[in-house]
Amino acid sequence: MAIKTVIRQVNEHVGETVVIGSWLNNKRSSGKIQFLQLRDGTGYIQAVVVKNEVSEETWNAAKSLTQESSLYVTGVIREEPRSKSGYEMTVTGLEIIHLTEDYPITPKEHGVDFLMDHRHLWLRSSKQRAIMVIRAEIIRAVQQFFDQNGFTLVDPPILTPTSAEGTTNLFHTKYFDEDAYLTQSGQLYMEAAAMALGKVYSFGPTFRAEKSKTRRHLIEFWMIEPEMAFTDHEESLVIQENFVTHVVRSVLTNCRAELETLERDISKLENIQAPFPRITYDEAIEYLHTQGFDIPWGEDFGAPHETAIAERYDKPVFITHYPAAIKAFYMKPDPNRPEVVLCADMIAPEGYGEIIGGSQRIDDPELMEDRFREHNLSPETYQWYLDLRKYGSVPHSGFGLGLERTVAWICGLDHVRETIPFPRMLYRLYP
Ligand code: 4AD
Ligand code: MG
Repeated sequence: MAIKTVIRQVNEHVGETVVIGSWLNNKRSSGKIQFLQLRDGTGYIQAVVVKNEVSEETWNAAKSLTQESSLYVTGVIREEPRSKSGYEMTVTGLEIIHLTEDYPITPKEHGVDFLMDHRHLWLRSSKQRAIMVIRAEIIRAVQQFFDQNGFTLVDPPILTPTSAEGTTNLFHTKYFDEDAYLTQSGQLYMEAAAMALGKVYSFGPTFRAEKSKTRRHLIEFWMIEPEMAFTDHEESLVIQENFVTHVVRSVLTNCRAELETLERDISKLENIQAPFPRITYDEAIEYLHTQGFDIPWGEDFGAPHETAIAERYDKPVFITHYPAAIKAFYMKPDPNRPEVVLCADMIAPEGYGEIIGGSQRIDDPELMEDRFREHNLSPETYQWYLDLRKYGSVPHSGFGLGLERTVAWICGLDHVRETIPFPRMLYRLYP
């Protein structure tokens, strides 16, 4: 009896007869031998069918296989140093499950729109598979880092009565007789959780109805949001750089083959080691002026500005102390200079832009009430948030890492659309 296994585990079955459920990726033939390139989601293997060694039925079945046909293949696993995986299978039997006709994605080049329309099939390609494996590894490493550093996982709600990051890009929905919005960030709730549990983090989907059609923006994206009681801005930066270092190291250790599939320049990732450089918003503005940008103090950075700043470093860089006026209402002003806030954006190298936004939070109830007024936020809706400052307020800080931008950077992709299984974008809701 053949042992049922998967391609990733064939190394445990050298010399044995195994059966593997798989799809035909590609095929070539040289008269009396057919070479089947098979995939099963866990990896790729070449299965060799020799005319003289199999029944006529098996030979003909192999011959009839088309791209993406599904089959159970039975055979003996051999070590094969010339193959990329190190193993090959000598086929003894073959059972076709389903013969595919006219698979739309062929080895020729397809346009992006065509591929996005066929995203449900495109996911099967080796490059897309590699991205999904790395995405999963990043999520695993994120959870490992926070679990090992004394954080508790907390899930903030998805349906909310308020905005966390500004009111212009909220997704509205009816909530029975009330109005509700899909969450833009779990932060405000994570602040409540930090006052209950000390150090917390969340991992979940967030939604922004942003009319931006850029390579960095998704409508639905996933965020990791740690929040820490008794932690100031500087302490938060140290956690952030150690966190990102850990994630990159984990991918380098556990996803070599996938990085190779993506032809990622590994040396660029090997440079990523805490501490990361820090510059203030003022220094960034000054530098941009030397580079011919005429951006005035007080204006937010766009992608070209971020890229110009990031190009000076081979690691992520923190830009700190932005003007209060261009940042969220909850950020704590710098006590020495109240027109700027204790915040930082982490800008990834190689032009990938902002991957983390974070800050120390206002802990003074009066100042928070002033901010509500300045930002036209209704005191009733935010009463609970004010309570956090009224009952045992403490210095606290937190940040949000955008998963998809991090995947794009680590994988070396030029657009976030490939970093998530089914991207939601400005003009795309299908499939
Ligand atoms: O800088 P943002 O807006 O920060 C917050 O939401 C804070 N409340 C986080 C916190 O302190 N808990 O978003 C954080 C990160 C960005 O740095 C970026 O990586 C990602 O989320 N992000 C997006 N990713 C993809 N598509 C979009 N439209 C994104 N908007 C933000
Ligand atoms: Mg931001």
